[in-house]
Amino acid sequence: MSKRVLVTYATRAGSTAEVAAEIGSNLSQRGFIVDVKPVKEVSSLEGYQAVVLGSAVRMGNWLPEMTAFVKANQQALNAVPVALFTVHMLNTGEDETSRTARRTYLQAIRPLLHHAEEAYFAGRMDFSRLSFLDRIIAKMVKAVEADRRDWDAVRAWAEMVFA
Ligand SMILES: Cc1cc2nc3c(=O)[nH]c(=O)nc-3n(C[C@H](O)[C@H](O)[C@H](O)COP(=O)(O)O)c2cc1C
Repeated sequence: MSKRVLVTYATRAGSTAEVAAEIGSNLSQRGFIVDVKPVKEVSSLEGYQAVVLGSAVRMGNWLPEMTAFVKANQQALNAVPVALFTVHMLNTGEDETSRTARRTYLQAIRPLLHHAEEAYFAGRMDFSRLSFLDRIIAKMVKAVEADRRDWDAVRAWAEMVFA
């Protein structure tokens, strides 16, 4: 029987939702039965044999609703294979400094899960999709508008996760 997989995500400006959709469609092509949902719409993990959790990064951390979800569902998550993806703009290099810096984005999450694979994907900065406050912060830190998502990297990960 096909495994049922949940891909759930937290986003502010939509780019993580699009990455989640791409992961979901690749998992479907691999024969999994897949639901892709914003984390705020997930009421239970019952019936899922594996879970993908993804979040955008704001100020060095996953979005609070995803952190709260992991805390609230820690037991259920630790009973199935879990994979995590993070969508962010800084620290995207392949050097050790970048790797170490981006791994800190999961510092509140990693201790809650026994074992979870981690992927990090470059995201998108689009000022027109930001809230007033986020736009002010983005301009203060001199953020640059860009779509750095590497769809081949996203697909390559989705093709091997839970293999
Ligand atoms: C206010 C704000 C803070 C951010 N903080 C970080 C950060 O600390 N580290 C990082 O790598 N990216 C940071 N980003 C970039 C976002 O993680 C990136 O644009 C991501 O693609 C947004 O995902 P979303 O479109 O799903 O909301 C920040 C973006 C904004 C607007």
